Amino acid sequence: MNENLSWIKRDLAVIWHPCTQMKDHEWLPLIPFSHGAGVWLFDAEGHRYLDAISSWWVNLFGHCHPLINQAIIDQLGQLEHALLAGATHEPAIRLAERLLARAPPGLTRCFYVDNGSAAVEAALKMSFHYWKNKGYPQKDHFVSLENAYHGETLGALAVGSVGLYRDAYEPLLHRSFHVSGADLFDRPQDEPVEDYTCRRFSTLERLLAREADHIAAVIIEPLVQCAGGMRMHAPLYLTLLRECCNRYGVHLIADECAVGMGRTGTFFACEQGEIIPDILITAKGLTGGYLPLAALLVRESIYQAFYADYETHLAFLHSHSYTGNPLACRAALATLELFDASPVLERNLEINQWLQKGLEPLIGHPHVSDVRITGTIAAVELASDGPNKIPYPLEDRRGIEVFRYGLEHEAWLRPLGNVVYLIPPYVITANELDTLCKTVRDAIDHVSRI
Ligand SMILES: Cc1ncc(COP(=O)(O)O)c(C=O)c1O
Repeated sequence: MNENLSWIKRDLAVIWHPCTQMKDHEWLPLIPFSHGAGVWLFDAEGHRYLDAISSWWVNLFGHCHPLINQAIIDQLGQLEHALLAGATHEPAIRLAERLLARAPPGLTRCFYVDNGSAAVEAALKMSFHYWKNKGYPQKDHFVSLENAYHGETLGALAVGSVGLYRDAYEPLLHRSFHVSGADLFDRPQDEPVEDYTCRRFSTLERLLAREADHIAAVIIEPLVQCAGGMRMHAPLYLTLLRECCNRYGVHLIADECAVGMGRTGTFFACEQGEIIPDILITAKGLTGGYLPLAALLVRESIYQAFYADYETHLAFLHSHSYTGNPLACRAALATLELFDASPVLERNLEINQWLQKGLEPLIGHPHVSDVRITGTIAAVELASDGPNKIPYPLEDRRGIEVFRYGLEHEAWLRPLGNVVYLIPPYVITANELDTLCKTVRDAIDHVSRI
């Protein structure tokens, strides 16, 4: 039996994969990766695949980057892990200092957790608990946008609204408000972006005007709703949101799990709305795609609301065994060093331009209803041919066929339903991206014939 097949057989006998209908693997190949280098992933038989989606948007500087590898090795020889309660260590301190120095001014405290969903859980708890400590325990609801995704633990699912992940668990979820945002996909062509954004924002404003007494926070994915199909809104939406949250006494939580760390053109996406959130969440690319780690960057006033004598029971109690793991902190520090070592954000502007050039031929394609790009995130929305370009139903398999086509052409694409997207590692070259965009164009032509 060849190497790939033997891995697949052993895997399918024991592993239950995430985000997967396991029966699909009766006909959909499972790819056994054996190693990675730069933008490439290699399978056990040496076939290579360009990691076009940065392994679920975590990888920034390529696989097996020598600097990050070395940082982890160095840390491994010193301290692999120790608890962060009643103790500390240099990597956790240094990382907090460096992240806060990068964050919008006014965010002064760093709270570590293990992953994006855990960060969202902690942020929701922190916001509610802040208001409780301040004498407003009735502020126990959250607001999020339709089509939002904030993770898949129960608290995070409650503020998400993508039915695919949420519907089965509906009875378990805390009630929260979901309002329509200002998704540019829905903008009438003749309405200026600013007018459209203001008009659509009024829905959220009315909700806060009516319910602010019961609302702790609004949580938002700044600029791009990633798992919701890479839907994008204008930075103005963030500016309006900040102003409105101030007016009604509601926290603003910026969930930058996916859009932070330079993905959208600025280091943090909320910089483009010129706002300071009350809690900013960073995860995914934080460790360059190496190890699970997330951080909440928090305003001083929130921290102070928990700072009191022990007997008052005001402390924020949220902990994970691996909070602030030193290996993960060192990987994150090495990642930040790579940002310092070269003009990453300027280079990402080039990636943006390469994406525009490579995907432009799809504008007007009979089976494409939208091509959108923010920073290094690009998405192509597939639709049925005809004047109204109707989105394909959820059960349509064109997205999966694009995935299959990619596998046959050295590209690891993993469309979200019928949205084909690219979020490449920042080290991708112009030639590699050119080839990748061609593969996407060919894949779309291929599935258009289905
Ligand atoms: C915006 C956002 N928040 C939270 C999460 C959850 O992060 P994790 O997968 O690390 O739990 C994700 C994951 O895709 C995300 O995109």
